[in-house]
Amino acid sequence: MTQAPASVPAAAPAPASAPTAATPADDAVEMAPLPGRSLTDDPQWFKKAVFYEVWVRAFRDSTGTGVGDLNGLVEKLDYLAWLGVDCIWIPPFFPSPERDGGYDVDFLTGIQVQLGTHQGMKVLLQEAHARGIRVISDFVVNHTSSDHPWFISSREDPEGPHGDYYVWRDDDTAYADARIIFVDSEESNWTFDPVRKQFYWHRFYHHQPDLNYDNPQVLEEILNALRFWLDLGLDGFRLDAVPYLVEEEGTNCENLPGTHAILKRIRQMVDEEYPGRMLLAEANQWPNEAVEYFGDGDECHMAFHFPVMPRMFMALRQGSRASISQILADTPELPENCQWATFLRNHDELTLEMVTEEERDYLWAQYAPVSKMRLNLGIRRRLAPLVDNDIRQIKLLHSMLLSLPGSPVLYYGDEIGMGDNIWLPDRDGVRTPMQWTSEGPGGGFSEANPYLFPKPIPCAPPYGIEHVNVADQQADPDSLLNWLRHTLQVRRAHEVFGLGSFRELESTNEVFAFERAQGSTRVLSFNNLTEWPQLVDVQLEGLVGRTPSVLSGSIGEAPEVIVDQYQLELPPFGYVWLLFSDPPATPVQRS
Ligand code: NOJ
Repeated sequence: MTQAPASVPAAAPAPASAPTAATPADDAVEMAPLPGRSLTDDPQWFKKAVFYEVWVRAFRDSTGTGVGDLNGLVEKLDYLAWLGVDCIWIPPFFPSPERDGGYDVDFLTGIQVQLGTHQGMKVLLQEAHARGIRVISDFVVNHTSSDHPWFISSREDPEGPHGDYYVWRDDDTAYADARIIFVDSEESNWTFDPVRKQFYWHRFYHHQPDLNYDNPQVLEEILNALRFWLDLGLDGFRLDAVPYLVEEEGTNCENLPGTHAILKRIRQMVDEEYPGRMLLAEANQWPNEAVEYFGDGDECHMAFHFPVMPRMFMALRQGSRASISQILADTPELPENCQWATFLRNHDELTLEMVTEEERDYLWAQYAPVSKMRLNLGIRRRLAPLVDNDIRQIKLLHSMLLSLPGSPVLYYGDEIGMGDNIWLPDRDGVRTPMQWTSEGPGGGFSEANPYLFPKPIPCAPPYGIEHVNVADQQADPDSLLNWLRHTLQVRRAHEVFGLGSFRELESTNEVFAFERAQGSTRVLSFNNLTEWPQLVDVQLEGLVGRTPSVLSGSIGEAPEVIVDQYQLELPPFGYVWLLFSDPPATPVQRS
């Protein structure tokens, strides 16, 4: 097995080829990447990285077909480097009937024709790496599409080579304790196949049969497919739907020991054959279960922290830090070589699986008052509309996202406050085209006739391209985009955000206050969760006589610490990050 290099040399070479087709956005603002951007040999790169999820089909169409593609993403790499992204996550790009956004794969080592070619993927990796950006992709380990040749062979020839690749039974009574995940569309985890005249098991849509990991050959196939992409140069994978890999009677069929054994085997292969690459677990679980996906540092490098996400939104509406404090207190320590992935939104509904029923009803009432805004156990809306396009709340949510422990995962379009379209089915309303410019009809996404776009661009004010687009926000120093870029620069300049310890500070009111510390560096993050001005009022030991620098925030300066009890006022939904360091740090200049 060839070992593709895990990283490029420390000094980034010039891009292998000139970026193609400059867009109006490129012309408007000089797209200088951040200084010193290059990939390092640091095996724990992911602990300090900022991730950015790109829905490729909706990002940039380079061919005039109306569908975004890999080459379109290449065209926008300079933008992502400018923004300060360290790693791009691309959802499934494999051949698929696309009845679940590509998470229904019918060829594990192919590329969907509309999206590009293997050569195009190589170019993407080369160009991204040249800009100091890594690329991970989804890999769907739990199931395939029912169009996959394995499934076709399995249903037609039970005794054949793939007869046992899926979970078949004569009736639909097994594993009755397993919940249904897509409650709005599926009634059972079993579906009858009229060809094989048996039932097959599926945790998601009925056209996504689960693979049968009791057959060791299945894992070998998956390992080989992963090797294929690692050989091509991908830096890792978001492993989709990992809690459900194996089934066991009498359990809820989630997080079982057999599932962990499979993930450990995948990790072993990565460590032995492709050191430096990374595995990110999608396990929508409570903290004590999610932490199991790190194993003893021998399973996944990262796992999404699902429970903290809805609590950031809850904290905002309740004007209370109680729920977020509680879930962080309930979050176990993780192995030294691992990291949480934190996020506000992604390509799915804002999942409310990891809250109580009462909390879910509350969040639905607050954030999804209209039934069309709800899907399964979640909310199918984007970040800006969720908070009524209130830039103070968007910044406050990002303040928590970017200063809490974990590596943040941004969702394309949220950096400019894009809107959604609740009239589109399923989760399509949060997968609309990226809005690059105000120029209609394609807004810089595509030059094709908009009829051809997989999803229309939202046009209702205030979210149409004339109000929300990258080019205008790049040109406006006070835009959300420039604020986020600056805040990412601040984060990059201080390793403590990625590597530091976490401690919540006792606060006498509803300011969510915590400390990140690494060596002699201490960063304090204060977040006013209410719509009223609030006094930060915390006990600070060992800092009397020191004046912190304001790294980012709603106030310009912070007072000296005169006595242990430190006070400063935050505006409604305001936040501030304060740095105490030895020696005092030089401020990050806006560039
Ligand atoms: C999780 C993915 O995020 C979601 O989009 C998909 O529908 C399910 N897994 C099934 O693959």
